[in-house]
Amino acid sequence: TSIEPLVIATRSQTGKVAIMTLNRPKALNALSSPLFTQLNAALESADNDESVRAIVITGGDKVFAAGADIKEMKDITFSEAYKNNFLGTWSKISTIRKPIVGAVAGYALGGGCELALMTDILLCTPTATFSQPEITLGIIPGGGGTQRLVSLIGKHRAMDMVLTSRKVPGKLAGEWGLVSRVVEEGESVVAEAVKVAETVAGYGAIAVQAGKEAVNAALDLPLDQGLRFERRLFQTLFATADQKEGMAAFGEKRKPTWGDK
Ligand code: HXC
Repeated sequence: TSIEPLVIATRSQTGKVAIMTLNRPKALNALSSPLFTQLNAALESADNDESVRAIVITGGDKVFAAGADIKEMKDITFSEAYKNNFLGTWSKISTIRKPIVGAVAGYALGGGCELALMTDILLCTPTATFSQPEITLGIIPGGGGTQRLVSLIGKHRAMDMVLTSRKVPGKLAGEWGLVSRVVEEGESVVAEAVKVAETVAGYGAIAVQAGKEAVNAALDLPLDQGLRFERRLFQTLFATADQKEGMAAFGEKRKPTWGDK
């Protein structure tokens, strides 16, 4: 007898995009520890696999994730949470070097919303629901929501979400800049996310990695240091064969062939 995986790892048709689909449909993809362990393992293996150039994280075209697993959390004591670094494994995703595209349909609640916020490019359907309902459970977001929402949508909207458990529909999430793109009604957000990931996968892997690293630095560094970091990284790309190839191809009016070198 085979046990259904909690995260199904597949590839796009080209094989360049690793697609990770959360697979606990009966619990609306509630993010249990075993699920996160599998997601982290899948992410790490994709990050270290040369054939993978981009990653998609999704719950499929019905539901993204209804949050951390409340049944698993409800009896945890402070001592256990502290000793075992409860939720500590959630930060693994932010160490992945390859670009991650998130695809949200349906609920992205609590930890589900926070997981979505951890992706690099985020797509949703117009009727997706983003919310941080932790306050209704006597807790607060613990997967980065309070921090990432502020930089994405500003303090007042972040407070509104965190303190009132307000539900933000996908269309509004697009207007607020909580997501990068809102797909058309009836369109598959997963298919669109794979297309976006394929676009990124078509560029040189070194420049892509550097672009991700530089944008992420903006969240941590003061502007002067961020600009210096960007400029230095920019300059280092002139040591790559891909820079020579990209600019030669432009002059020769042909498509570049990236060697990831
Ligand atoms: C465990 C969950 C769950 C969750 C849903 N389920 N969400 N189980 N943890 N977060 C389970 C239900 O118990 C139920 O299983 C099944 O999924 C279907 O859910 P229903 O409630 O029957 O569906 P529906 O009536 O359609 O309501 C959908 C819903 C509701 C509005 C999404 O399920 C809901 O409010 N869920 C909790 C959302 C939430 O509060 N999320 C934040 C969690 S805290 P059974 O077996 O009973 O049929 C959090 C903290 C993050 O995320 C901390 C840092 C990472």
